[in-house]
Amino acid sequence: MRLLVAGGAGYVGSALIPKLLERGYLVDVVDLFWFGNSLPAETGLLSKDLFDVTVEDLKEYDQVIFLAGLSNDPMAEFSPSKNFVYNAAAPAYLAYMAKKAGVRRYVYASSCSVYGYTVNELYDETRPVASSYPYGISKLQGEQAVMNLVNDQFSVIALRKGTISGYSPRMRLDLIVNTMFRTALHEGVIKINNPSIWRPILAMEDAISAYIRVIEAHESISGIFNIASGNYTVGEVGDRVKAEIDQQLGAKIKLEIRHMQDFRNYKVSIDKAKNVLSFHPQNDVRAIVQQLIKEMDKFSDWDNPAYQNIQVFREFESKIRNHAMAMPVGAGQ
Ligand SMILES: NC(=O)c1ccc[n+]([C@@H]2O[C@H](COP(=O)([O-])OP(=O)(O)OC[C@H]3O[C@@H](n4cnc5c(N)ncnc54)[C@H](O)[C@@H]3O)[C@@H](O)[C@H]2O)c1
Repeated sequence: MRLLVAGGAGYVGSALIPKLLERGYLVDVVDLFWFGNSLPAETGLLSKDLFDVTVEDLKEYDQVIFLAGLSNDPMAEFSPSKNFVYNAAAPAYLAYMAKKAGVRRYVYASSCSVYGYTVNELYDETRPVASSYPYGISKLQGEQAVMNLVNDQFSVIALRKGTISGYSPRMRLDLIVNTMFRTALHEGVIKINNPSIWRPILAMEDAISAYIRVIEAHESISGIFNIASGNYTVGEVGDRVKAEIDQQLGAKIKLEIRHMQDFRNYKVSIDKAKNVLSFHPQNDVRAIVQQLIKEMDKFSDWDNPAYQNIQVFREFESKIRNHAMAMPVGAGQ
């Protein structure tokens, strides 16, 4: 089976693709390589914007997996217009072209952030979605657009993932457990902005198994699935990260508890993914921290801006702006 992964050079793709290659899939990636390239040499690379992908380009693929876009709130807040183009229009464009090309399945990286602010109830996929901030709104728009394309010949599966954490060859240290791990090791403290809010956490290993279950699911299956390893309050995540680091590394990490407002608060049921996809997460916060400790030497240049999406994005956005401002009026017409 031949797969095209859009945005496959990012945090999720760089951990997932080695596992797909291991299972014998042929994998190509279309990516703008905002964060470089840490993919195995056997991966086919198309270095371009996915908006430049044509129907002709897509004809050879059995499945297309969308992992692109602006992947967190700070990037979306920094450039709301790019956020709506890359998170809402891009997945819709690629799904439309894939369907036209005869691709059999499209997999969309949605997010539990579509649930917005809920009040301590377990949400399944039938519950209302109500984001009021750019990232959540755009992820939902992307999801609705691609789900509209389902028919008997074109399966679409949207994974509403919790916040992923754990190691990837393209590392991010701006995701809840990874961020806590960084400040614990770098500054000796874990900062908890609001201990009472709920977040579904998804271990990278479980995210990988969710994608594998989806790619290998019966072709009649389409739909939206919540995907998480477990639901935790942020306060509990902090306690567990601290306990594991203290125990494994003989440290005495401090906790700094703040009470800042947050516009995201949700916990999700994964029963549908268990029943329909046979998705059974195997990892908890402790397992994520153990994996981070094991791989730590590969990302302990803690201040590397490449591990913080917003820093990379801000830098190249300002380069684009400066370049545009330096152009004389009428240039390029
Ligand atoms: N990481 C998480 O915790 C999480 C949780 C829920 C959902 N998601 C979603 O999963 C997907 C993958 O997340 P990630 O953490 O790997 O993101 P990432 O930021 O690490 O990677 C995104 C990749 O997409 C590429 N890209 C962006 N726009 C593109 C375009 N128009 N054409 C070609 N390439 C493009 C970038 O160069 C980058 O390599 C995203 O859609 C994100 O919204 C992530």
